[in-house]
Amino acid sequence: MTGEALRLEGVTRRFGSTPVLRGVDLTVRMGERRALIGPNGAGKSTLFNVVGGALRPGSGRVLLAGRDVTGERSHELARMGLGRSFQTTRIFASLTVFDNLRCAALCGRSGRQDRLPGLGRLFTLLSAWSRSPDIEECAQRALEALELNHVAFALAGTLDYGTQRRLDLGIALASGAHTLLLDEPTAGMNREEAAHAVALLREVSADKTLVLIEHDLDAVFALADRVSVLVAGRVIATGTPAEIRADEAVRAAYLGATPMRDRR
Ligand SMILES: Nc1ncnc2c1ncn2[C@@H]1O[C@H](COP(=O)(O)OP(=O)(O)OP(=O)(O)O)[C@@H](O)[C@H]1O
Ligand SMILES: [Mg+2]
Repeated sequence: MTGEALRLEGVTRRFGSTPVLRGVDLTVRMGERRALIGPNGAGKSTLFNVVGGALRPGSGRVLLAGRDVTGERSHELARMGLGRSFQTTRIFASLTVFDNLRCAALCGRSGRQDRLPGLGRLFTLLSAWSRSPDIEECAQRALEALELNHVAFALAGTLDYGTQRRLDLGIALASGAHTLLLDEPTAGMNREEAAHAVALLREVSADKTLVLIEHDLDAVFALADRVSVLVAGRVIATGTPAEIRADEAVRAAYLGATPMRDRR
């Protein structure tokens, strides 16, 4: 994989009179695993909302695989291969894990990821597509990659939190995305669960571009090829994990005097 998966040029966004993104420049190469870190309220999730089409930028440009997608809607971006981790609320609690994945595979094909149909229509869609080997295979691959085989036929709403988060990621994968934006994939997990999730993330992102927002710096340094630091709506540094650890401006603006491994 060569070229740029994602490029942001001078992206701004304000809420009311408050500027939250103040000219973000960011380039992520294809196949790269990039972590985005920064203090609470720095604008990380807002940035994902702008890239993912949930919010329009005030100014600036967003390019996906070289194509200007500024202001494009979420379902169009999904069709172009941009996947976002869904919050657990986006999981269909009353469908099985496998049906959730089939639905994601189906919606990914039709670019409807962000406009999931109501349950009634969903059943009609699922039964219409249920014999499509392509959809089945895609769901099955996600099931195996996220180690969800043992709960394939459990109702998603009955899963524990950590497993729901894995399903969440499975949904993004099954949709066929080549570029994944994951907002705090290990949030709420204990250390053991987080370490397991990081190992899975490493595997499932092997042939993809991954941009992840993460507060768990152990996870960041274990996973990321490069790290960008967002402070007050601007990227103040980008570098390898070692470079970021050593960066004085990063320490001053974000990490203070505390050793990084102690900050979560
Ligand atoms: N829809 C919104 N309307 C108004 N203000 C918002 C909205 N979304 C975010 N903000 C504000 O924008 C700022 C940045 O929020 P954002 O959620 O992007 O931060 P973050 O870096 O993801 O923080 P965290 O690490 O806590 O998740 C915050 O001050 C937040 O209150
Ligand atoms: Mg956030």
